[in-house]
Amino acid sequence: MDDLAALRQQYQDLLDRLQRNEREFRRLGRAVWRVQEDERRRLARELHDGVGQNLTAIKHRLAAITATLPEANADARAALEATIALCGDTLEDTRQLSRLLRPPVLDDLGLEAALRWLARSQGEASALDIAVDIGQLPPLDADLQTLLFRVAQEALNNIAKHAEASSVLLRLVVRGGLIQLQVADDGRGCDPDAALHSGGSGLGGMRERLRLYEGRLELHSATGEGTRLRAVVPLPD
Ligand SMILES: Nc1ncnc2c1ncn2[C@@H]1O[C@H](COP(=O)(O)OP(=O)(O)OP(=O)(O)O)[C@@H](O)[C@H]1O
Ligand SMILES: [Mg+2]
Repeated sequence: MDDLAALRQQYQDLLDRLQRNEREFRRLGRAVWRVQEDERRRLARELHDGVGQNLTAIKHRLAAITATLPEANADARAALEATIALCGDTLEDTRQLSRLLRPPVLDDLGLEAALRWLARSQGEASALDIAVDIGQLPPLDADLQTLLFRVAQEALNNIAKHAEASSVLLRLVVRGGLIQLQVADDGRGCDPDAALHSGGSGLGGMRERLRLYEGRLELHSATGEGTRLRAVVPLPD
């Protein structure tokens, strides 16, 4: 009987150690991910305020130089105008890249505004009709907001790249202590198992990140019937 009690105790100790290790693993994973997001935030600012502002200054200087050239100097004027246009395009690309790295709206106005912005800009860029339905949300910590934003961003990227869809519904609701993000499209669909194990870093990365927050990723789809991605994360106590 004593042996059995000792064995039970050993088993319990092992289980406790396993749970402690698991918690530590999650804590470390979240810390790595936080550093990555901080780095993205810094890069986004640097691109916007540093490179972006310099490009704006170059554009203005070129315009000022063009204005001093005589009308007769048509070749030089045309070359300068083409360079100004190139500067403008590069400036737009830089701003776009900066917003993709870390949209300021997420830090300034929070998840709901960021998701609405994402839907609008992705919808315009990919000619998709993206409806957004967001329920009443409790205050969410910054990590959880970033996590859900990144899931939505990857889901919409996938739709633009693979789905051949025309409309999308993005829903965020809280139910029974869980926060659920759903992104459903009416595109060509896929084999969910193959998609989750395709070697692409998108869905796999999303699933790993959700696991760090004790959440899960589900993919429901059949060929020709669209795809529904669902991320579920427990709300912290
Ligand atoms: N909404 C969707 N409609 C149709 N197929 C999809 C959809 N989302 C994902 N897939 C399929 O699942 C595969 C895996 O997606 P995943 O995001 O992991 O990788 P990827 O988009 O190909 O590459 P990455 O995200 O690393 O740039 C895709 O290659 C695509 O075939
Ligand atoms: Mg992808």
